[in-house]
Amino acid sequence: MILVLDFGGQYAQLIARRVREARVYSELIPYDTPVEEILAREPEGIILSGGPNSVYGEGAPRVDRRLFELGTPALGICYGMQLMALEMGGKVEPVEVREYGRSDLRVKEHGLLFAGLPDEQKAWTSHGDAVLAPPEGFRVTAETPSIPIVAFEEPEKRFFGVQFHPEVRHSEYGMDVLKNFLFEVCGCAPDWTPVNIITDAVEKVREQVGDRRAIIGLSGGVDSATAAMLVHRAIGDNLTAVFVDHGLLRQNEAEQVVEAFGKNSDVPLVHVDASERFLRKLAGVDDPEAKRKIIGEEFIRTFEEEAGKIAENATFLVQGTLYSDVIESGTRDAAKIKSHHNVGGLPEIMDLDLVEPLRSLFKDEVRVVAAELGMPERMVWRQPFPGPGLAIRIIGDVTRERLEILRKADFVLQDEIRNAGLYRDLWQSFAVLPAIHSVGVMGDARTYAYPVMIRAVTSDDAMTADWARLPYDLLERISNRIINEVPGVNRVALDITSKPPGTIEWE
Ligand code: XMP
Repeated sequence: MILVLDFGGQYAQLIARRVREARVYSELIPYDTPVEEILAREPEGIILSGGPNSVYGEGAPRVDRRLFELGTPALGICYGMQLMALEMGGKVEPVEVREYGRSDLRVKEHGLLFAGLPDEQKAWTSHGDAVLAPPEGFRVTAETPSIPIVAFEEPEKRFFGVQFHPEVRHSEYGMDVLKNFLFEVCGCAPDWTPVNIITDAVEKVREQVGDRRAIIGLSGGVDSATAAMLVHRAIGDNLTAVFVDHGLLRQNEAEQVVEAFGKNSDVPLVHVDASERFLRKLAGVDDPEAKRKIIGEEFIRTFEEEAGKIAENATFLVQGTLYSDVIESGTRDAAKIKSHHNVGGLPEIMDLDLVEPLRSLFKDEVRVVAAELGMPERMVWRQPFPGPGLAIRIIGDVTRERLEILRKADFVLQDEIRNAGLYRDLWQSFAVLPAIHSVGVMGDARTYAYPVMIRAVTSDDAMTADWARLPYDLLERISNRIINEVPGVNRVALDITSKPPGTIEWE
């Protein structure tokens, strides 16, 4: 197992993910996790992530020096490399020419980390500081035109540092560098798969919940359904699923979810129609963060009421929270982007304790687990749908009328995407309703109506995304059908923004 110390870098979670892709279990932990705790987990290697700080900056995160005396191999990436250099007696300074993006890396000495890799490679860098002098005993193994020390290693102690980001796909041989560290340096065996977490998660849930009762908020997506099946394995009939219809779902979605879940699982299901109460609370609210807070809070309050009805001792709420939800809502060391309703949007005081068996997994890993648990393909491959639903795809006020327009437009879009056989290739495809009108002409008459925005993205894990290059003829069909079939819409536009700089959702 590899522990990744999180110094707050945007790519920190990607490191853990790449290690897991190499079939070695890995977890991201706060950089100041006590050394005793790290030792107790017996990692085969430690990776120090990048981070937004300068090692000399005020309050810059540092590590306990004893970390370098454990005899465990360590790899420092970017900030992690600079920190390693500093702690071991090297010198770090701001660089004259900052490097952001792709740079030409030249391997000077292959050593262990670059073993078997080409001399020249493209590497992704993003930093303002660099190592000026390596610590004693360290050999410089790579350079770029502007940075003379882009990688170093101390093969005896098995300490390594790279200034570039091997975890990012743009680093041509990044994955090979990581694999060299895992297999050649740490001696890890590539035998982990996400399926391994099933037994572990079942055991942990059993321990946490004991013989008390739990409810799970079902959304219809693969995450909560998988969480339900896992927890059902752990506590059997002490789990009840509650499906809260907040009135912000897509066309026919509530019926489909209830039917599919009923068919495919033995977990008893309670269907609550709470649309009135959600829409009342959302009336007149147009700030995205406020919408999320309201929805997060209403979810919890509805669950609390239902839990009370199901059984007095239902004291746990199971959620299908994923790793990306946790990271994006801002960990202590990473910046907050938006408060996903099931993490940052939760009210401070709750009667229910949370059970989140998928909290350390990425979406594609959950899909592997779901398939292993016997979930039907249509559910396994459902595109993600945000908990706050259409409320964060309607810019501005969420009204019944605007919900109806978006539902119809979204239905057409999904229908065409499925017919074109593209549903599974896209991470998400959906329609957005902006809060503006534009002038058009239909049947010789002037119209003044809403535009609908089409958003379709490809992604591995929602942390980054690219806008999908949909075929023109498909776009044409979508546009024609939306304008013809959805009253209140007179224009269709396409969103061609990647993430970053955009986010996938508009709010
Ligand atoms: P963004 O918009 O941050 O979205 O690029 C990343 C992924 O998360 C989903 N998303 C949410 N899911 N509650 C959720 O359950 C939320 O508040 C929320 N906001 C965004 C989004 O659909 C995408 O898959």
